[in-house]
Formats: sequence, C-alpha cells, structure tokens
Amino acid sequence: MSARFEELDWRETSIGTISLRRRWDRSLERDVHEIKLDEEFLMSSLFTVAEIELARLGLAASPAGELDVVVGGLGLGYTARAALDEPRVRSLHVVESLGEVIEWHRRGLLPLGAELTSEPRTRLVHGDFFAMVGAGTGFDVEAPRRRFHAVLLDIDHSPTHVLDPSHAWFYEPEGLRRLAAHLEPGGVFALWSDDPPHEEFTAALSAVFDTVRAHVVTFDNPYTGGESSNTVYTGVLEHNGQLSSGNNGAPLP
Ligand SMILES: C[S@@+](CC[C@H](N)C(=O)[O-])C[C@H]1O[C@@H](n2cnc3c(N)ncnc32)[C@H](O)[C@@H]1O
Repeated sequence: MSARFEELDWRETSIGTISLRRRWDRSLERDVHEIKLDEEFLMSSLFTVAEIELARLGLAASPAGELDVVVGGLGLGYTARAALDEPRVRSLHVVESLGEVIEWHRRGLLPLGAELTSEPRTRLVHGDFFAMVGAGTGFDVEAPRRRFHAVLLDIDHSPTHVLDPSHAWFYEPEGLRRLAAHLEPGGVFALWSDDPPHEEFTAALSAVFDTVRAHVVTFDNPYTGGESSNTVYTGVLEHNGQLSSGNNGAPLP
C-alpha cells in the first residue's frame, strides 16, 4: 500500500490554482489520481468508463482504413489511451490548453503518462482546441488545415454547461460546421457530455452531420453506491464529404 495522500504538484494558472493529488482509497483498495481547480474536482481516475467509450464509439463509427485522430482535452489521458488501442490509428494529436497537465504526463506523475508520451503515434499539442477550430488552421501546427478521420472531444461538462463562455459558439450549427471542415469524408465527431441527451444539441449535430446518435453510457459510481451515466454523441459525415452550407474558411470574430 502507498502513502495515503500526496499532493504531487500544484500551480497558479490564469484560471486558478490547479493541483494534482494521489490518494489511497481504502474502500476500493486502489490509488486514485485527482486534478482540482481551486476547490473544485476537475478529473478523477475513478471515472473513466465513458471517457474510454468516447474513443471506442467514435472510432467504431469512423471510416475504413488507417485513421488520423484528434483528441480534444488530454486530462488524465484515458480517452487518448483508448484511441491508441485501436490498431488502425496511425496518428493521434491530443490538444490540451494547460501546459501543466502535459508536463505532469511527461514527468510520469500520472498513471498513463509514461505510456502516452513514449508512444510514437502520439503528439501532445499545447493549445486551445476552440481557437484552433475558430481560426480555421486546425490541429496540426506543422500542416495547417490538415483533415482528420475522427475528432474525440471531452473538454466542457456538456454542450450547455461549458467551462468558459467563449466555448459556447462551438456547440451551435455554425461551430460544428467549422469542426466538420477539419474532417475527411466519412469522418466522425464524438463528444462526451455529463448531461443526458439534449434535444437541441442533437438537432444542431443533425444540421451538419449525416448520421447522429446519442449513446447513454452507464457505470458504477463508488461514491453513491449506485449507477451514473454520461452521454457520448457521435456525428458522421457522408463519404462524399459534402458539408451543409456555411462559412468553413474565414476566422471567426
Ligand atoms: C475532462 S478533462 C479530459 C479527460 C480525458 N477525456 C481523460 O480521459 O482523462 C478536460 C481537459 O481539457 C482541458 N481543456 C480545457 N479547456 C481546453 C481548451 N480550450 N482546449 C484544449 N484543452 C482544454 C483541461 O485542461 C483538461 O485537461
């Protein structure tokens, strides 16, 4: 058994104090890693089922052949790690806005850090996912406007409960259209959400993508002793790659 509690690092950032803690959970008999922003819990290694399903469901809907994939939001790395389990994935760009989170992985302070950072298919990209979509430059700094086969996004709590008001535009049809412009024909956008399926957001996805599904993912919650659920949305473009009309090129204001 390891020490019962350790604060592995903490940093002042522009959005508050972030800290990384590891604690031994006696009832579960395992280590739990948690990231807090000030006093709020942002991420916990106790809850990974839907994060992993985000990758599985997104990649299951992706086109045949080798895949170039983007993950938005590195966090503890479970979505990225699950994407790498798919042998068809030939490249994985993981976009993360907090340099500290990337550094914690590189220093091996997080359980999946060593594995993710030594994997030759992976690039950890320090940047703002929404700014990359909005500017139209995309996710590969070495190849602006490069298209990908799948984008798997887990940054905000849900399409209507965003971390920052500046993200809200993305979940409207025009924002989703901008994202779709970075996808190959037949490409997939998959989104994790803490909320149940939301009719208005499903309609926004349907305005841009040809096949849209909202999957409810259930998992055991050790805190409540019951079951909890998240939603994973998937939107798939047609193979002819035609996007619904809209401005796909010019930067957003
Ligand atoms: C909920 S976590 C992702 C969890 C991840 N799916 C996993 O499996 O551990 C969200 C991550 O998004 C990052 N983030 C927040 N705003 C962002 C932005 N605008 N662009 C990129 N990453 C962002 C946060 O720092 C955090 O690491």
